[in-house]
Amino acid sequence: MSNTTAMSLSGKNVVVIGGTSGIGLATAIAASELGANVWAAGRSAAHIEKARATVGSRVTIMSADTHDSASLQAVFKEAGVIHHLVSAATGGSRTMKPFVEQTDEQFQAAFGKLWGYSNVVRTGVPFLAQDGSITLVSGAPARKLKANASALSCVGAAVENLVRCLAIELAPIRVNVVSPGIIDTALFDGLGDKRDAAVAGMVKGQLIERVGRPEEVASALIYLMNNGYATGTTVDVDGGQLLR
Ligand SMILES: NC(=O)c1ccc[n+]([C@@H]2O[C@H](COP(=O)([O-])OP(=O)(O)OC[C@H]3O[C@@H](n4cnc5c(N)ncnc54)[C@H](OP(=O)(O)O)[C@@H]3O)[C@@H](O)[C@H]2O)c1
Repeated sequence: MSNTTAMSLSGKNVVVIGGTSGIGLATAIAASELGANVWAAGRSAAHIEKARATVGSRVTIMSADTHDSASLQAVFKEAGVIHHLVSAATGGSRTMKPFVEQTDEQFQAAFGKLWGYSNVVRTGVPFLAQDGSITLVSGAPARKLKANASALSCVGAAVENLVRCLAIELAPIRVNVVSPGIIDTALFDGLGDKRDAAVAGMVKGQLIERVGRPEEVASALIYLMNNGYATGTTVDVDGGQLLR
């Protein structure tokens, strides 16, 4: 029997930018558990230290910013040939309020995520194996439209369209995107005491009425690394939020 669909990353080099927390860190751990050599990077010393304490020697944790090509290149050079490149970095700040009440600066700041991902791809492609993959992370607001979330929706949709454009231009390198719903990560830590109640409100009425786990999104990212016939696709891991 062919083993081409078996879940193994043995001997593969996997780089996760935005890999020091949440979805990216869960992906780095899952890839290392499947036998990959893994490098994961983020900006803050706090996340880097916490990630190192979590993964030990299983994953090489480095410092990099999606907006700083030199720091990305330093990570990519460590890996040498990259088989699977993931960017799960947040990369920009989001303003949640009516579009007409946002300044240009606030609206544009959300696109830091797109420019960061663009930079990761442009800097990373020279290091990628021709049978390798790139996977980005968008978010349910890309296609689930709500009031006060225009910045989030526009950036998410742009990320998903960029992925389809890149899948055409970079073939046979495969390019895909995972779109998470509400996932229990540090993304919501800024809500402080209100965090749990706010997150519970966000998932109310979903088909799967609970917050998702970073590992559940990581498994979609791993699937897209492993499946050599998947390209230009979006995988939703959102508890059915799109059908709410
Ligand atoms: N959690 C959710 O409910 C949810 C929903 C939809 C979409 N998403 C998307 O999923 C992705 C992962 O988010 P998460 O929930 O896992 O959040 P998280 O736990 O905050 O992790 C984000 C990671 O990205 C890193 N990062 C942020 N900006 C970066 C930059 N400019 N350069 C390099 N690394 C950077 C962070 O470390 P440093 O801050 O230290 O750099 C951290 O390692 C994001 O794109 C987010 O928009 C999340």
